[in-house]
Amino acid sequence: MNKDVTILAIESSCDETAAAVVRNGREVLSNIIYSQIDLHTVFGGVVPEIASRKHIEKINPVIEAALKEAGIGFADMDAVAVTYGPGLVGALLVGVAEAKAIAYAAKKPLVPVHHIEGHISANYIDNPDLVPPFLCMVVSGGHTHLVVVEDYGKYKILGRTHDDAAGEAFDKVARAIGLGYPGGPKIDRAAKEGNADAIAFPRAHIKDAPLDFSFSGLKSAVLNYLNGCRMKGIEINTADVAASFQKSVVDVIVDHTMQAARMTGIKKVALAGGVASNSALRAAMQEACRRRNYTFYRPTPLLCTDNAAMIGSAAYYDYMNGKRADLDLNAVPGLKLGQY
Ligand code: KG4
Ligand code: ZN
Repeated sequence: MNKDVTILAIESSCDETAAAVVRNGREVLSNIIYSQIDLHTVFGGVVPEIASRKHIEKINPVIEAALKEAGIGFADMDAVAVTYGPGLVGALLVGVAEAKAIAYAAKKPLVPVHHIEGHISANYIDNPDLVPPFLCMVVSGGHTHLVVVEDYGKYKILGRTHDDAAGEAFDKVARAIGLGYPGGPKIDRAAKEGNADAIAFPRAHIKDAPLDFSFSGLKSAVLNYLNGCRMKGIEINTADVAASFQKSVVDVIVDHTMQAARMTGIKKVALAGGVASNSALRAAMQEACRRRNYTFYRPTPLLCTDNAAMIGSAAYYDYMNGKRADLDLNAVPGLKLGQY
C-alpha cells in the first residue's frame, strides 16, 4: 500500500493569508483563511503594502491553527508547499519566506506552486472522481484562461483575455454603480433582484481568436450607459445594470467554453477561480453542460476564492512528479501557467 502524503500549504498571493493541511491531494484536514477584505474595502481595492504587512502579522497564527486543526506537527508532514506566483510580489514573499524557513527548520522538501494551478486543483478536492484530461475555465480577479488540463501539472491554454480579467470587470463595474469592493459577490447579490435583459450590453468576440476574451469594451459600455442616464436625468436601476452586465460576462464565458469543448471533443468541463463562485455563471455552465451531456465540475464557493487547500492539492501532484524548490526560491509575480 502506498504511504499517505501529507502537505502543509501556504497561500499569500493577494489579500488572503491562508494555510491548509491536505492529504493525498484530495483530503483536506484543515483549511484556515484569514481574509483581509475588510481592511481594503475602505480603499476600494487591494492596497499591496497593507496586504504585505497584514500577511506578516497573520501568517504564523494561521499556520499554527491549520496544524492544530489537522492534529499534526511539522514532523508529521511530508512537504511544505507555497504559492510563489503569480500575485503581488510583497504579498507572495511573505509566504515564500515562511515556507522556506519551515522547510529548512523541519528538514522537509519545499514544493513551489503556481497560484492558477491551485485554483484548477480546487476541483480535485470536491470531485474525487475528476481526473485529467478535462477543460477548465479559470476566471479570477487577475486571470481569465480557458485551459485543457491534459494531465496533472500539464496545461494547454486555448483562450485568454486581451485586457481585463473577468473578476476585474466585476470589481470595476461594481465600483461604477456604487456597490463597492469586492465587486463580484455584490454584483452577484444585486443581480438577483434585477432584469438581465433590461439593458443590451455587448458580448465581445475577437476576430481570428474565437476562444479569447475581452471585457474592457463591456466595462466601457456600462460606464457610457451610466453617464447617458445621468445626463438625461434617467434614474439608474442598479439591480438591472448588475444583472445585464453579469449576463454579458456569463454568456461569453459559457459560449467560449462550449466552443472549446466542441473543438477538443472533451466532455468534462470545470470552473475555477473567484468568479467561479458566481451563482449565475455556475447555473448557466451547469445547464449548458447538461444539454450536451457533458459532466460539469466546480469547487464549493469557499474553495473558488483564494485558499491554501487548493495549493495543497496542486502541490501533491507536483510533489509526486518530483517538483522541488531550493531555499533560494523567489516570488515570481508574473509567473505564467506551465512556466517553471
Ligand atoms: O481567485 P480570486 O479569489 O483571486 C485571484 O486570484 O484573483 O478571485 C477574486 C475575484 C474578485 O475579482 C472578486 O470580485 C471575484 O473573484 N468574485 C466574484 C464572486 N466572488 C468573488 N465574481 C463574481 N461573482 C462572485 N460571486
Ligand atoms: Zn486567486
